[in-house]
Amino acid sequence: MVSQELYLCYHGLLLPNIAHNEESLNFFETFKFRDDDILAVTYPKSGTTWMQEMIPLLLNGGDLTPVESVPNWDRVPWLEETRIAHVVDKLSSPRAMVTHMPLNLMPPAFFSSKAKVIYIARNPKDVLVSSYYFHQMASFLDDPGTFEEFTDKFLAGQVLFGKWTEHVKSWKNADLGDRILYITYEELIQDLRGVLQRMLGFLGRELSDDVLNQVTEHCLFKNMKQNKMSNYSLVPSDIMDSNKSPFLRKGIAGDWKNHFSPELEAKFNAVIREEIEGTGIRFPWDEE
Ligand code: A3P
Repeated sequence: MVSQELYLCYHGLLLPNIAHNEESLNFFETFKFRDDDILAVTYPKSGTTWMQEMIPLLLNGGDLTPVESVPNWDRVPWLEETRIAHVVDKLSSPRAMVTHMPLNLMPPAFFSSKAKVIYIARNPKDVLVSSYYFHQMASFLDDPGTFEEFTDKFLAGQVLFGKWTEHVKSWKNADLGDRILYITYEELIQDLRGVLQRMLGFLGRELSDDVLNQVTEHCLFKNMKQNKMSNYSLVPSDIMDSNKSPFLRKGIAGDWKNHFSPELEAKFNAVIREEIEGTGIRFPWDEE
């Protein structure tokens, strides 16, 4: 069972109390979007922190100052979290923010704005693995139990921000035209520079080859892991214990293969396939 003390329930979704409350959700619901706002949207553990690193670099000509001096949660804040109210006025235009919300819960002002969206999807089996370790290191999340038990919770949507399939379906079916760019975590792993170039085009920005090379280098896992403004080492260890599992843990695609038995994989695939069936949504990992 989920501890009432750890989570609040928002339209059926579990949100951790440490970062959300009625006031922050009201702030989210009444948020005044600007047409030049940029929103990175993720289901948790799909590459949010990576986006919080990349977007400011792309928007600021590759200048490392923001990513080396401002913690990721203040640099590109979550729309729905308590922190945003303290930093939103300090964000320079165009403002970059992140959200884990499904499209159907986005506030009305989002739909009437021209705010741009970058949606990042990740193989749900790797999302599950990443989340499993995150639950072990974060004291504000419930004990995940065994991997098999946590898989059941994940498939039932009894985890942060509900079902992965609902999140993906909502945003992949979004009628947002050229306001939305879809990328995957796996594409970032395979060709970071190429995806950064696509993001630049989408954001209407340019960088010289040299600067783009520097940005790419900075955003590699091994380098981001050293950035204390992004690796969550600023968070006290009684809240996030990196000795149990670092936040920037492995940073690879396919770690699920080290965790799933063939039976568990078959069960997982069957549930996900059934929930995605008929939507026309395809991902590269469907072929694995
Ligand atoms: P793993 O636990 O599989 O390592 P989020 O930021 O949405 O919570 O997602 C966290 C996941 O993104 C973690 O996955 C983390 O290591 C990974 N990640 C963050 N920055 C990354 C980078 N530069 N390269 C690869 N993976 C990265």
